[in-house]
Amino acid sequence: MSIKPVLRMGDERLLQRAEPVREFSTPALRDLLVDMNDTMQALNGAGLAAPQIGVGLRVVIFGVQSNSRYPDADSVPQTILINPIITPIDEQIEEGWEGCLSVPGLRGVVPRYLNIRYQGCDENGGLIDRTVSGFHARVVQHECDHLDGILYPMRIRDFSKFGFTEELFPGQDLQDE
Ligand code: NI
Repeated sequence: MSIKPVLRMGDERLLQRAEPVREFSTPALRDLLVDMNDTMQALNGAGLAAPQIGVGLRVVIFGVQSNSRYPDADSVPQTILINPIITPIDEQIEEGWEGCLSVPGLRGVVPRYLNIRYQGCDENGGLIDRTVSGFHARVVQHECDHLDGILYPMRIRDFSKFGFTEELFPGQDLQDE
């Protein structure tokens, strides 16, 4: 196990554009993915991008299990996504609440494309190509924004819907990305 400290908003490394991964199936990439997974699990996160642990590479992980406490929440398959490309399927935008491990204790309403196609590679260079909607699409857009130095507060349009999780959702144990 190696749980890494997650950088918080204000750290300049979160604002940098990450570099593509050029070699797959390497020990260094495997080690990075173990660290990312350990860190995400330890913080009960729904996703994590490599820049959040100070590694400037285009690598994200995400996944949400269906939860009996939130039966309406969509599940998202556990995924390793490297060098991602996101293509919106149409112009539809949906507003939804997000939290981020780099912005702890806060949540905000963020507009995202409702329907996207995303492509990229797994840890061995195998191609991933999925067309998804809703919460799955939201999580992918949030994580991939981290690779371009964008944190979700930078996309908020209505700051009356931005605040502390404990005030907005008292007693709820919500996952951050
Ligand atoms: Ni995040």
